[in-house]
This record gives sequence, C-alpha cells and structure tokens, in this order.
Amino acid sequence: MKKFLKGILVTTMVVAMTAALAGCGGADSAAQPEAASDSESAQKETLIMATNAEFPPYEFHEGQGIVGIDAEIAAAIAEKLGYGFEIEDMAFDSIIPAVTSGKASFGMAGMTVTEDRLESVDFSDSYATGVQVVIVKEGSEITSVDDLFAEGANHTVGVQTGTTGDIYASGDIEKKDLGTIDRYNKGADAVQSLVTGKIDCVIIDREPAKEFVAANEGLKILDTEYAVEDYAICFAKDSELTEKVNGALKELIADGTVQAIVDKYINAE
Ligand code: ARG
Repeated sequence: MKKFLKGILVTTMVVAMTAALAGCGGADSAAQPEAASDSESAQKETLIMATNAEFPPYEFHEGQGIVGIDAEIAAAIAEKLGYGFEIEDMAFDSIIPAVTSGKASFGMAGMTVTEDRLESVDFSDSYATGVQVVIVKEGSEITSVDDLFAEGANHTVGVQTGTTGDIYASGDIEKKDLGTIDRYNKGADAVQSLVTGKIDCVIIDREPAKEFVAANEGLKILDTEYAVEDYAICFAKDSELTEKVNGALKELIADGTVQAIVDKYINAE
C-alpha cells in the first residue's frame, strides 16, 4: 500500500513536470486550485511502462518511437483503464528497480516470471509463452543444448545481462566450469559477437532470436529448447494496479485484441 501511494506521488510529479516542460503547467494549475478537486478525471494519471526496447518483436525502436507487442498491449490496457501512457526505455536489469522504486508504474519487457523476481515484484497473469533458445553459427560443433553441459565443454556463451538466459547460463555453465559467459547490454550486440566469431553461441528468447537470425547470414537456432517460460507484467508489491491490469488484460484477450497485436508482429507459420 505504502509503495502504491509513493508510486502515485512520483507519477503525479512526472506528469506535473511533463506539463511544465510542455509550457502549460505550473502557473495555470496554481491559478485554479479547485479544478483538480472538481473531478478526478480532469487530470488523467499516466501509466509509465519501464522496458528495454532491444527485444523485437516485443519492444524495439522504430523511427522516433518504441513499438512492438508489449508496447501495443500496454497502450491498450492503459486506454481501457482510462490512463495516459508513456514508455521509459532503460537497461533490462534496471526495470525491476524502476518499478520497486515507483519511478515506473509497471515493467513489461518480455519478462519471464521467476521465483527470484517474485521476491521483489508482483506479476500479472501471463500473456505469452517465452522459450529460451540457442543461436549458433551454421556448421557449429554445438548441435544441441546438451552439448553446452557436456563433460569437458568449454564454450563462450553470449547473453543479455540480467535475463533468464544469463541466469541459466551462469548456473548451468559458468558455475560448473563448463565455459565462460559474455554479458551484453543488448541481445543484438551478443549476436554481432557471434557473427564475428568472438563467442560460440547466444542464449536468448526465441522470437528475438528469429529476428536476429533473419537479419544476419550464417546463423541458426538449435532445434532443442533450453527452457520454456511465462511472460508477464511486473508491478511493485501489493500495487492496486495488478488487479486492474489483470482485468483489462482478460478482456483484451477475450475480445481478440491481444491475438491481433501478436499476429501483426509475428507471422503465423
Ligand atoms: N525473458 C527474458 C527474461 O525475462 C528476457 C527478456 C528480455 N527483454 C528485453 N526487453 N530485453 O529475463
């Protein structure tokens, strides 16, 4: 409860600051103190989504903006609930701190629900399945996920910092002395390292993997899966938003909106 109130205060500050920056704030609202108390909806509260827009097709930069499945589902949720909507782009491992500190209203970033993360945030109902896969160069001697854990294995594995790919590889490979982990700020940078032969493989979520492989010659995704996971939206613990967002999400799934957004970004095979 405490955290939720803090979240609102910060959000309100951001809205006020945004309004001030736009040149239509401070003086105006000070001149009409009754306006705000008149009606709550007079000043629409804005939901701030924390994300890492390096993860196509869920969130990525296009022109000046950030688009993708998560961006569109979140915008539809905000609209349904009557909030304004903004996206804050940041490092993946800054998303949960932004949410717990109230700088962001929620985090949405193809984020996997994990026991560890559940210690610091609450998650919405899941809205998608994620699969961790391994990208290698064509002709690589790594032909299945098990090759990474084989006795005497010694591969250099690329991951995006703080992702489940990082967490799994750290436990299954680095801790067991079966190889080295190279951590990157962006999945695309890990893939570039693979292309230039600096590393042996990249562990990353399947949909971005498909896009990276399509954009670079000579790469492929191993047929075997590393892990299957659930994506969900994260909130500060005990936030009242969780339930509201779950309600909106349910409706948007039931009326086909979520599927239509997914279809727009992922070609049905
Ligand atoms: N599903 C993985 C995780 O939760 C990776 C998500 C990365 N998302 C991003 N927007 N970069 O750790």
